Amino acid sequence: MLSLEDYCKQLLYGTSLEEKLTVQKNLSFNSFDAYEMKDPGRPTRLKFSAEQIKFPKKTSFHLDEKKALAIHFFANHELLAIEMFAQALLMFPNIDQVTAKNLLATIEDEQNHLKLYIKRMNELGIEFGDYPVNDFFWDYMGEVKTFEEFYALMALTFEQANLDFAKYYQNIFKEVGDEETFNVLDQVYKDEIAHVARGAKYLKSQVKDQDLFSYYQSLLPGNISPSRGKGMIFDERGRQLAGLDHHFINQMNNFRDDFDIVNRKQWKK
Ligand SMILES: [Fe+2]
Ligand SMILES: [Fe+2]
Repeated sequence: MLSLEDYCKQLLYGTSLEEKLTVQKNLSFNSFDAYEMKDPGRPTRLKFSAEQIKFPKKTSFHLDEKKALAIHFFANHELLAIEMFAQALLMFPNIDQVTAKNLLATIEDEQNHLKLYIKRMNELGIEFGDYPVNDFFWDYMGEVKTFEEFYALMALTFEQANLDFAKYYQNIFKEVGDEETFNVLDQVYKDEIAHVARGAKYLKSQVKDQDLFSYYQSLLPGNISPSRGKGMIFDERGRQLAGLDHHFINQMNNFRDDFDIVNRKQWKK
């Protein structure tokens, strides 16, 4: 039987997409020493690139080429999610088995999302790897020192923001009559609610005298604020379904810092 350790190594260091997309349900839970951060293995075409390409403007989504490019970005985020969860399982071997299994269930969803996006971009005429991919989220993995910090960054920041992104882009694809991509984003959205819920439940179990929001803030790396846990719309309903309470949701919604003003401007068009 494959061990959790070997499976995560395959997901993280494998150099083929097949290795990263293989779902493995029966795993043995061996004990091992914590792994250091190391860049993921990738097929040559999908290696991190310093070349910056721009995310397409929403006014260009009637063009297949631009839709495909947007989906290419989303696909890289899914691949990064698989790798970041695998890296977390290797970095923090002492988490309990229930939590490890929750992370594995999330990985399986991310694998499914990646498969759906690849299928869709192929239908729109491109291959995964036709455009350069960035290591934007990966870089932050180097900042987390504890499993709680990882989960705050991943589930309550990047995945929480993805509720807003998925809803927002879902509507744009709907507006241009792309039912197929709309459905993929709908699946991603529903699964993301479950992912945020897993992180929220775990972190709630760790809060001591603080409220969840201040505990969450205390876990974030210095260069990341709760602003990063939001998109260009604020999907309150998704957050409620993820089990976040009124108080937490309001604090998220009302949180403001420079990031809102400087980095979100480009999305207004
Ligand atoms: Fe995903
Ligand atoms: Fe996710």
